[in-house]
Amino acid sequence: MKFFIDTANLSQIKEANELGILDGVTTNPSLMAKEGIKGHEAVMNHYLTICEMVDGDISAEVVSTDFNGIVEEGKKLAAIHENIVVKVPMIKDGIKAIKWFSENGIKTNCTLVFSAGQAILAAKAGASYVSPFIGRLDDTGWDGLELIHQMRQIFSLQNYSTEILAASIRNPNHIIKCAEAGADVCTCPLDSILGLLKHPLTDIGLQKFLEDAKKFA
Ligand code: G3P
Repeated sequence: MKFFIDTANLSQIKEANELGILDGVTTNPSLMAKEGIKGHEAVMNHYLTICEMVDGDISAEVVSTDFNGIVEEGKKLAAIHENIVVKVPMIKDGIKAIKWFSENGIKTNCTLVFSAGQAILAAKAGASYVSPFIGRLDDTGWDGLELIHQMRQIFSLQNYSTEILAASIRNPNHIIKCAEAGADVCTCPLDSILGLLKHPLTDIGLQKFLEDAKKFA
């Protein structure tokens, strides 16, 4: 399973990248706004900075919702860097645009996916990635991980090449369960990635080793 970081925060991206386990980055308009990035040029420059920091796919989301707007915006985003993946919402014009991008050599990530039916449409349209939001499903009483299992079964049976990109991760256990369910990629906040490091027995064990090491220093 590939690891992406789900943020537009440059210091968090740097920290995850320095761990040596980062395969890419996903952003969205909310994450960009959180960083205070304003204006077309600043947004484009921010994406370029991320592309220059991380050697992997970088999702940049369109804000247009009509076919022509999505295509025009997506072309501009894709022109920033070869690693840009155009993130497109799961709407009717989004599906049409994903089909257009797939026929024109532009990688896409279909976002805001909450059902297997939506995932099938995205795969049929030729999306490079499809992003089920498991945390938001859990938040509203649905079962996000069940969707990952269902998608894995369908995509494998149907031989879809679209990668399952588990998104809206809330904790380290989500990451483990996504790996278990066969997600191709998990995009996570930095805290959830760092949470994977932690175990009290590791801390206790290390403390004891360091104390014992003093005995023969
Ligand atoms: O980037 C899309 C997704 O990961 C959003 O997560 O935490 O806003 O539900 P969240």
